[in-house]
Amino acid sequence: MRSHGCGDLRADQVGQAVQLCGWVDRRRDHGGVIFIDLRDRSGTVQITVDPELAGGEVATREAFAAVFETASHLRNETVLRVEGTVRARPLESVNERLATGAIEVLATAITVLNSVKGVLPFPVSVHDDEAVREELRLKHRYLDLRRERMARNLRLRHQTVRAIRGFLEGEGFIEVETPVLTRSTPEGARDYLVPSRVCGGEWFALPQSPQLFKQLLMVGGLERYYQIARCFRDEDLRADRQPEFTQLDMEMSFLEQEQILQLNERLIRAIWKAVKGVDLPQPFPRLTWTEAMERYGTDRPDTRYGLELVNVSDIVAGMGFKVFSGAVAAGGAVKCIAVPGGNEAISNVRIKPGGDVFGEAQAAGAGGLAFIRVREGGEIDTIGAIKDNLSDAQKAELLARTGATPGTLLLFGAGDTATVNKALDRVRQFLARELGLVPADRDNSTWNFLWVVDFPMFEFNADEHRLEAIHHPFCAPNAEDLGDDPESWSERLPTARARAYDLVLNGLELGGGSLRIHDSALQRQVLQTIGLPLEEAEAQFGFLMEALDMGAPPHGGIAFGLDRMVMLLAGEESIRDTIAFPKTQQARCLLTRAPAGVNAKQLGELHVASTWVEEEA
Ligand code: AMO
Repeated sequence: MRSHGCGDLRADQVGQAVQLCGWVDRRRDHGGVIFIDLRDRSGTVQITVDPELAGGEVATREAFAAVFETASHLRNETVLRVEGTVRARPLESVNERLATGAIEVLATAITVLNSVKGVLPFPVSVHDDEAVREELRLKHRYLDLRRERMARNLRLRHQTVRAIRGFLEGEGFIEVETPVLTRSTPEGARDYLVPSRVCGGEWFALPQSPQLFKQLLMVGGLERYYQIARCFRDEDLRADRQPEFTQLDMEMSFLEQEQILQLNERLIRAIWKAVKGVDLPQPFPRLTWTEAMERYGTDRPDTRYGLELVNVSDIVAGMGFKVFSGAVAAGGAVKCIAVPGGNEAISNVRIKPGGDVFGEAQAAGAGGLAFIRVREGGEIDTIGAIKDNLSDAQKAELLARTGATPGTLLLFGAGDTATVNKALDRVRQFLARELGLVPADRDNSTWNFLWVVDFPMFEFNADEHRLEAIHHPFCAPNAEDLGDDPESWSERLPTARARAYDLVLNGLELGGGSLRIHDSALQRQVLQTIGLPLEEAEAQFGFLMEALDMGAPPHGGIAFGLDRMVMLLAGEESIRDTIAFPKTQQARCLLTRAPAGVNAKQLGELHVASTWVEEEA
């Protein structure tokens, strides 16, 4: 149907007869001459319908009258086939901003391949970058995909996957598909369940990740596996979370943690080189989990800016200001953020109840923020009782430890350590945005990768009164923390570090993995530690333990969030803009209107009855 892509034509083709297909991006009528911007995925080109020029040279005047008539009534997004001749544009109408701007195609024939019958819900034209409501974009995603932004993002996603495959295949990795209809794979979210018609009363779970299958592939002797794997998690959705998302999933046998980290750094470097043309620094910095929590209050710190948390518990422990000393006495902490220039930038009103900085701390569970303003000569200014209770020595120590200079604002969080960390992490991120310390996402050219290593195995789930695995219960504990004596495992496991690692990029968790347990006795012990009685552990994971006993090699792996990776590479703020057909925050597909009701017969065949009661309006 066509000889060229619209966007591929250049001055080299001047004089050639061409056939093009595409959509009418826009049409302009200049008194007797009609210009059509014709768009396909390669770009746009100007089609000129000029009876004066065409009539004499190529077609008869009668035949051309039909072409002109067709062109006169074209609506945007009509699908066309155009035949014509490429010619140089007159000098005064050359468009420097357009790749095809030096030429135009003089039309000799136009065929309408399909028309737009209804009203377009939003403009598609490349000339129209008006922000369209996301709801409309998702409902008519096929139109949104024609627009520049989504087309660019999907292409970038494809480039990313191609770079991944190229690198991993060069390293001897084999791509294997794992089942989607499977058993629950515990990654901490709720499962999506699928009832079985054939096995009445029984359910498949969609995989939260291919975790167990990839371990079984290692037992199966594959040694190096990868998969671009769809994962399903029924959890609260955010800009960086979808109910179904894609992982780059990998697993390797006979490699130490260090080798796994290095291989993955090379992979990431290859991706960034291929997609962004960027040479990333080598090696990526590392922080232990403990240090990350201490200095940033989070296990995924954004290291593009400072504003680190400083622990001042020891300085304020004995002071008369009870909010501080009380927190330390109760086993908690007092930490602060020093904001250089904060005296100028952040008013008291913003830190006190009702203020935006206060609101951030409160949203993370803190009661509020105490603060000190450092004045000229090191004098300090506070509201309330801090100043009166701070000795000169304590004051000097505080200024020295925080590196505060005149003009600095010190913001304090006091309470149980987890809440203090959570609140100050949130305040830190908020201040960085407010103070302009992070570039707007689209312009981001700072890539601060960070490995966070040595995670604890478990954390306490206060609601359920039990330990819960921080990553998942298949991570290997650090041998140093575990010791050699299986008798002492139950005692030592709860506080052991895991051989687990996360890759963080600019404050976002890009991926995570670990070395795995390959000893069935240890695996049983870990499952018991998270409160799974032996019998239940056998019922759920007996197949894994059995496989571990059949000569499982030492192995480990990692998974990256592909949607997140593409989001960061594309400078987008939501993974929805990196997925062709994403779901809304309510986990709905607005295009197909899934999920949807099913009829009683179908439910009956599946041996399922719904208990859902429509809420009254
Ligand atoms: P984890 O649960 O950390 O690890 O997931 C790996 C990465 O997947 C991305 N991710 C998500 N992306 C979009 N929407 C979601 N709902 C979502 N949840 C997670 C994140 C995350 O870092 N089996 C382990 C990996 C392993 O141990 O090898 C796992 O799934 O970028």
